[in-house]
Amino acid sequence: MRMVDIIEKKRDGHELSKAEIDFFVEGYTNDDIPDYQMSSLLMAIYFNGMNEEESSRLTEALLESGETIDLSSIEGKKVDKHSTGGVGDKTTLVLGPLVAACGAKFAKLSGRGLGHTGGTLDKLESIEGFNISLSTESFLDQVNDIGIAIAGQTASLAPADKALYALRDVTGTVPSIPLIASSIMSKKLASGADVIVLDVKIGEGAFMKTLDDARELSRLMVRIGKDFGKKVTCFITDMSQPLGFAVGNKLEVIEAMQTLQGNGPDDLQRLCTEIGAYLLQGAELAEDIETARKMIQESQETLKASDVFKEMVERQGGKMPDLNEFIKTEGIIAVKSEAEGNVQKVNALDIGLSAMRLGAGRTKKDDAIDYDVGLVLNKKVGDKVEHDDVLAYVYNNKEDITEELKTILGAFTITKEHVERPPLIVDIIEE
Ligand code: URA
Repeated sequence: MRMVDIIEKKRDGHELSKAEIDFFVEGYTNDDIPDYQMSSLLMAIYFNGMNEEESSRLTEALLESGETIDLSSIEGKKVDKHSTGGVGDKTTLVLGPLVAACGAKFAKLSGRGLGHTGGTLDKLESIEGFNISLSTESFLDQVNDIGIAIAGQTASLAPADKALYALRDVTGTVPSIPLIASSIMSKKLASGADVIVLDVKIGEGAFMKTLDDARELSRLMVRIGKDFGKKVTCFITDMSQPLGFAVGNKLEVIEAMQTLQGNGPDDLQRLCTEIGAYLLQGAELAEDIETARKMIQESQETLKASDVFKEMVERQGGKMPDLNEFIKTEGIIAVKSEAEGNVQKVNALDIGLSAMRLGAGRTKKDDAIDYDVGLVLNKKVGDKVEHDDVLAYVYNNKEDITEELKTILGAFTITKEHVERPPLIVDIIEE
């Protein structure tokens, strides 16, 4: 088989066979196929797409390029959740303990933040001593004992996806629906859960900008899941503004703890309840969604869920902080409105980029993070604003952030018109 024939076949819009897909995935992972040929094929896929069968074959090839995690030693149904990435998205920190407190097994491999989006591992590492590098044995033991473990993804999980993703990142071929679907699904399938909910974000702060694209991606991931015998449900949710109020590592841990105790922002609470209810029903721990919602509410009221979070922190070597003394910054600056009216927009991308530049995120893989900095929004879309009202509090450790404060102010659009709050859960796609 020759790579050039595969490139030409896809360039001319034809379907690739399993043998051809296996050939280029294996060849690229083993360094037998050079970047220039792989880039050319990726661009042909970008323009001509892949049908469902090809996407499933690609998922399988990526999955088989590395190890899979065997969760069979964990008793009960294993549940997993994955978000396509957003700003202020601390859902995993809340959802995991909530469903674990209700009897599900939450065995989660998470990633770090890159660019304007945050990552669960960075948020957890803002807690002193928290260890995300668990051996497979302690990961499995911990999930068996307390229902939850959140650890870093090892390099042996879908290594072909890692290599291809890095190439896509620099060749303009990330936003291809079959490539995104097979990339996400290969990692989810390798992680071994029985029930999977995918949170597909749409809006300015997300990969998918339109509802049509988000639906197409979701349908494809549900279909790939089915091909591999897994129940996958996709939630399509709003990322036109940040989720919750807090953006920044320690600030998000605090908001997650507040939500676990039932005192979180409405949007975050709702998203965690709804995804959590799907996971509990999928894991056959609740007969219907309404019962599952009640179980979740009870786990918050009894503080069982926040106790699970604390137990996880201790098991993974962390020291649960006193949340009143957790943040250490030089200053908190209030960004105030220069207009009055209603908030029409809080640009998630601008807020995410500002938080990153304040030090909460990385521009390069090895950048150090300042866990204490970030923003807490005081107004969200649909809120009424008077002149001089605080729009956001900025937690800062840098010297001069005058320009940054202007960007943050500019992220808010205030109008005299009435503004409806955007729907949070736009659609749910399941088999
Ligand atoms: N997240 C992934 O893991 N892969 C993609 O291709 C896009 C988002």
